[in-house]
Amino acid sequence: MTTDTITTPAGNTAPAPGTPLLQAGGVTMRFGGLTAVNNVDLTVNTGEIIGLIGPNGAGKTTFFNCLTGLYVPTEGTVRYQGNILPAKPFKVTQAGIARTFQNIRLFANMTVLENVIVGSHCRTKQGILSALLRGPGFRRTERESRDKAMELLRFVGLDGKAEHLARNLPYGEQRKLEIARALASEPGLLLLDEPTAGMNPQETRVTEELIFAIRDQGIAILVIEHDMRFIFNLCDRTAVLVQGQKLIEGDSATVQSDERVIAAYLGTPFEGAPGEEEAQEVQAAEAHAAEAAGAADTAEEPADAQPTAAQEPADAQPTEAPTESEEDAK
Ligand SMILES: Nc1ncnc2c1ncn2[C@@H]1O[C@H](COP(=O)(O)OP(=O)(O)OP(=O)(O)O)[C@@H](O)[C@H]1O
Ligand SMILES: [Mg+2]
Repeated sequence: MTTDTITTPAGNTAPAPGTPLLQAGGVTMRFGGLTAVNNVDLTVNTGEIIGLIGPNGAGKTTFFNCLTGLYVPTEGTVRYQGNILPAKPFKVTQAGIARTFQNIRLFANMTVLENVIVGSHCRTKQGILSALLRGPGFRRTERESRDKAMELLRFVGLDGKAEHLARNLPYGEQRKLEIARALASEPGLLLLDEPTAGMNPQETRVTEELIFAIRDQGIAILVIEHDMRFIFNLCDRTAVLVQGQKLIEGDSATVQSDERVIAAYLGTPFEGAPGEEEAQEVQAAEAHAAEAAGAADTAEEPADAQPTAAQEPADAQPTEAPTESEEDAK
């Protein structure tokens, strides 16, 4: 590890840009017979915004869970600033990695401000005794946490809603609040799992600016998103996961023009592609459904035309089902 450091705008010292921060090596996660993440290597350097994309069920969230100690990888190692990370979420946060969740996880009945204060607890040194006695040290720490939380709310544009209950915020603002809470732990690396899901184009643009601003504070970012325009605008490099394997990693131009990426997204299989078999099954089922619809159309017109059309969406659904995500795994 290099010992070069810079001072960030927030006054913290951070390793110089371009220094390896997160190094995932050969990370594999198996659930019984399913290999959700398969031998994935990924490095995030200081100063970088790295994208992680891939179809539904590709293993992106599982990979995040392996990085953040929620899952113990079946194989492989995760290093942060050169040290192997313990597979305990609070220790990972303490080491300097913060995250947001694909399915928002806020304290719904706490205020917006309280949610952010909770995020700073891994950095406060006050013990239980101090909290019970509520001495001057405790009150000072509490005031500092509150001031810092307000500053973060200003940073994400939620200072006007500090006293609102988290559950009353619109969806897009809940996502911003999760980011503020993650920042309260003073991370060196922020992992964002679909930060713009459910946002309108205007909110998405604001989030893009927010992520650039976070990077400018000296915090590296690893971001999962399905919105390609967002990813390719934002990221220095993007890695593509398909069926748990890293297909390619590169800058936006390289990834966008890679035929395997296009195939993975548009469903045209290429030789030896992970998921080729599944794609072929889907294609065959679609062809079969189209044939059946065609035969019905030409059969007893016009009386049968209506029911056939009505059946179509129901017929199409099972074909698409295997690509849908399993919400409770997030
Ligand atoms: N705890 C678990 N137990 C069993 N299988 C799991 C578990 N977590 C994830 N999986 C499976 O691992 C695969 C990858 O899921 P994951 O949620 O990581 O995909 P993803 O790329 O994040 O998809 P999406 O874009 O839909 O969020 C899926 O097949 C999923 O069902
Ligand atoms: Mg996911």
